[in-house]
Amino acid sequence: MTYTLFFFFLFLQSLDLSAMAATLGPKFYSESCPQAEFIVKDVMKKAMKREPRSIASVMRLQFHDCFVNGCDASLLLDDTPNMLGEKLALSNINSLRSYEVVDEVKEALERECPGVVSCADLLIMAARDAVVLSGGPNWEVKLGRLDSLTASQEDSNQIMPSPRSNATYLIDLFSRFNLSVQDLVALSGSHSIGKGRCFSIVFRLYNQSGSGKPDPTIEPKFREKLDKLCPLGGEGNVTGDLDATPEIFDNQYFKDLVNGRGFLNSDQTLFTCPITREYVREFSVSQEKFFKAFVEGMIKMGDLQSGRPGVIRRDCRVANSHRPRIEVLFETSNRKDK
Ligand code: HEM
Repeated sequence: MTYTLFFFFLFLQSLDLSAMAATLGPKFYSESCPQAEFIVKDVMKKAMKREPRSIASVMRLQFHDCFVNGCDASLLLDDTPNMLGEKLALSNINSLRSYEVVDEVKEALERECPGVVSCADLLIMAARDAVVLSGGPNWEVKLGRLDSLTASQEDSNQIMPSPRSNATYLIDLFSRFNLSVQDLVALSGSHSIGKGRCFSIVFRLYNQSGSGKPDPTIEPKFREKLDKLCPLGGEGNVTGDLDATPEIFDNQYFKDLVNGRGFLNSDQTLFTCPITREYVREFSVSQEKFFKAFVEGMIKMGDLQSGRPGVIRRDCRVANSHRPRIEVLFETSNRKDK
């Protein structure tokens, strides 16, 4: 009996788990945790009341998670003595925030359905809710992701784009994730909510591309305003709105770009570049087209998976490393993908 079990475990360990990329679907938790979506939205609503910006900050986490080895909540792992996680990566340090809202959502989910809902799915649901709660479109999210066992600061450093990026760089980056030019422009429309730091724009205010001059595409009145907010040598952590209506998810962001009032270089470049410009124009006149393209982009981005093995983390910040490897295998192979 012991031998049989031993060989069974060996057999399990030999399985190629990369072939087990989850099939995602909207009803994944309909039996195991039917209240999951309600719980996530409820905590997000409370977070928004406490601090309106926090839901934009949580929404951003989907992008920074999904681009680095798939949507697997690797982003949420805290550093350990043996692992440099993604939180301190170049694009994330002093910038990503509201991890405590994610903790709160996870705690609420664990109270109701312990060990059932992954942190990776939590991020996907919370991002959608942030958009809905800010007045944007609603959509059905696909669920069934697993949480990674590890994270990579190096991968995040290599992949995540800087605010200095130009449109051609971004087009190429997004295409590597099977995301089209339209997806890039629509997803950048997430900057319809939230804020950015002076640190992210001082180069374009005072030394664009090493010219010693400001970015000429910034509309002069807007530049005056940004200069006041972010004086040369000033405090880098001061924040400014990413568009003129930073708590409302609408197409104002695109109207701002058409008027030279984009906050980040990576935003304004979408109107400067002829390949992306027509999408910006189109979304600036049709909020409906923007919303439709945005939802498509979010679903495509949410489909990114690494195919690596995973678990359901109990605490989004910590890999369940104390659990024996074999248990991990069971968890992965016993899942009911819907
Ligand atoms: C296209 C490439 C992108 C670049 C270069 C970029 C870059 C940035 C930067 C530099 C900031 C401000 C950070 C700071 O100053 O601390 C920011 C904020 C933000 N980004 Fe992006 N981003 C991109 C795409 C996206 C996507 C695809 C999403 C989500 C779908 C997203 C969601 C957000 C949100 C919501 C904020 C505001 C967060 C807050 O207020 O805390 N971004 N982004």
